[in-house]
Amino acid sequence: MNSFQNKVVWITGASSGIGEALAKALAGEGAKLVLSSRRKDELERVQKSLKTAESNVFILPLDLADSSQTDELAQKVVAKFGQIDILINNGGISQRSLAKDTSLAIDRKVMEVNFFGTVALTKSVLPYMLKQQSGHIVVISSVVGKFGFYLRSAYSASKHALEGFFESLRIETHKDNLKVLIVCPGKIHTNISVNAVTGDGGAHNKMDESTEKGLSAEECARQILNGIKKNKEELLIGGAEVRAVYMKRFFPRLFSKLIRKQKAE
Ligand SMILES: NC(=O)c1ccc[n+]([C@@H]2O[C@H](COP(=O)([O-])OP(=O)(O)OC[C@H]3O[C@@H](n4cnc5c(N)ncnc54)[C@H](OP(=O)(O)O)[C@@H]3O)[C@@H](O)[C@H]2O)c1
Repeated sequence: MNSFQNKVVWITGASSGIGEALAKALAGEGAKLVLSSRRKDELERVQKSLKTAESNVFILPLDLADSSQTDELAQKVVAKFGQIDILINNGGISQRSLAKDTSLAIDRKVMEVNFFGTVALTKSVLPYMLKQQSGHIVVISSVVGKFGFYLRSAYSASKHALEGFFESLRIETHKDNLKVLIVCPGKIHTNISVNAVTGDGGAHNKMDESTEKGLSAEECARQILNGIKKNKEELLIGGAEVRAVYMKRFFPRLFSKLIRKQKAE
């Protein structure tokens, strides 16, 4: 893909962080945008900040915890813009609690939003892309989609599950000219830790030190757009923390020792 000009791009989690930065970058490159998340007022705030005509942006509130509505939402996008060129599955929630202190209800909630919600939306968009015989599906996983970490048992599990689903989908849809990009960010400076759930369903409500020192959401968005243009299959984005992915692959025992020594936050 050479350019995003007039491409229809549906972004979930567009009301803050990486999704908001993606919306800004894509608007600057002439894309038509569908912005989804739960908070309509925040989506409207993002829309107002975009350097594009109002008619190029469609605000479509969506709760990823409710997969019953995704077919209807996809129909609305096609009715508005005629097609869906790129789906960026970015919306999600994190977790900050030990596995022993996390209720099964919270494990299910994290899986429902991050995994089943994303899968449901993708399955609703897929028939249009298969009919077009073109389309790009992006999923924002995480480095913890590659390895587990303290306080993230459910979150890490949901990202591992996404990786399995989207790797399989990539193989199955190659013949239909569909592209699947799996993005694994490390530490990105957003409100992800503030919005994370705790073991009993409360809000963590705290900016983690490492998240605060992370890469900017704008730089993360820039690298994602570059990855789409270059038809990359996978992107690792972040600072030194992304090296842990290679360390686990090539030196698993050393990785195991070193990862335990990291700060649990
Ligand atoms: N920041 C990092 O260090 C980091 C690292 C690795 C991966 N990621 C991933 O990057 C993605 C974006 O996160 P972020 O860092 O930008 O954090 P963020 O600022 O908290 O943004 C999360 C976005 O997801 C949306 N969302 C949450 N629950 C939702 C639901 N039930 N239905 C629909 N939308 C929902 C939120 O919007 P509403 O509240 O309006 O619904 C918000 O727009 C996530 O998938 C996250 O796991 C982030």
